[in-house]
Amino acid sequence: MFSPLRSTLSIPATTISRRRQEVGGLVMFLIGIVLLSYTALTVVAQAPLIGVCNGRVADNLPPEGDVVAFYTANGITKMRIYEADQFTLQALKNTSIELALDVPNEVIPTLAADPAAATAWVQTNVISYAPSVQFRYIVVGNEVMPTYPISHSVLPAMHNIQNALAQSPAVAAANVKVSTAIRVDLLGTTYPPSAGAFADSATAYVVPIVQFLAANGAPLLANVYPYFAYIGSSGQVALDYAIFGTGGRVVVQDGALGYQNLFHAMVDSVYAALEKAGAPNLQVVVSETGWPSAGNDGATPENAAAYYLGLTNGTVTSGTPKRPGQPVETYLFAMFDENQKPGAASEQHFGLFTPDKQPKYPLVKFTN
Ligand SMILES: *[C@@H]1O[C@H](CO)[C@@H](O)[C@H](O)[C@H]1NC(C)=O
Ligand SMILES: *[C@@H]1O[C@H](CO)[C@@H](O)[C@H](O)[C@H]1NC(C)=O
Repeated sequence: MFSPLRSTLSIPATTISRRRQEVGGLVMFLIGIVLLSYTALTVVAQAPLIGVCNGRVADNLPPEGDVVAFYTANGITKMRIYEADQFTLQALKNTSIELALDVPNEVIPTLAADPAAATAWVQTNVISYAPSVQFRYIVVGNEVMPTYPISHSVLPAMHNIQNALAQSPAVAAANVKVSTAIRVDLLGTTYPPSAGAFADSATAYVVPIVQFLAANGAPLLANVYPYFAYIGSSGQVALDYAIFGTGGRVVVQDGALGYQNLFHAMVDSVYAALEKAGAPNLQVVVSETGWPSAGNDGATPENAAAYYLGLTNGTVTSGTPKRPGQPVETYLFAMFDENQKPGAASEQHFGLFTPDKQPKYPLVKFTN
């Protein structure tokens, strides 16, 4: 999440788109009630789709254990953490929170070079906490680009971690998936969404990873930021399209599919790229998305509130135009404002809460 989505710049300026006996009847009636209740329960019990990233690049955040309790207090049942912090892992034991655990970029070369190092990392950070901690994903690398020297190490590290996880029956039974979190910038084309394709310069890096994910039934994780696409578009992307503000109006017509918001368009461009890469059944999980409240163009509390409300009201994550019945598991970035985040000024203002645990957007609910 450090640069605008350059490929969105290619949006052309012109496109801005109900007897017999009494007893029998009573039985039927009771069965009806049971069925109705069952249906209602099924809906209510649907797995929550919304998680929150627990970034801690700050010197003023609550202690790790308090943060875990604060997730639970707010009904947040999925968390992503960026390193294997032992205080957080300890606090997560016996909670109902599912975890996406990152392998930090700088650790990847070691785990790639030596299977024993991967086994040790998995033993210390995963197996020793399972099943009390519900691991969902091991995220091997965040936003690694093909130009980074570590890019050659990502897939070997994924292999070694996958093999190490398989050595624990408890972890294997929990079906923990190994993946990596990409930037949508790996796509050379994102517009229209059906034209989505990985850049030629990225295919040698990303296609073998996609094949690994497909072989293991794991999703591709993608950090999806309509905010950066918006500010990098020189006015070609309309604000209301970026912040779920079009009131149901189709802004981009792409063949038979109509797009009312940029988030769906970006996710579907990734699905299109996966189809072209030979993995039409791979699922996309949005491993980060958010909108800052200050620091750069378009970064206001009002725009951020609209963005997070639009995302979490159940409409958006129920599916995309290209995958209508397929829920999009989505991790909001981030839990708190992070006052030591480097980069653009907006980087420090992505929090859903202030460091003293006040909600910046009180209307946002995390329970779908
Ligand atoms: C978690 O639950 C397990 C099984 O009930 C129990 O043995 C363990 O002590 C609990 N751990 C914590 C940290 O509460
Ligand atoms: C959810 O948000 C979308 C986009 O803003 C909007 O069209 C829809 O009416 C909202 N639905 C509810 C139930 O709030």
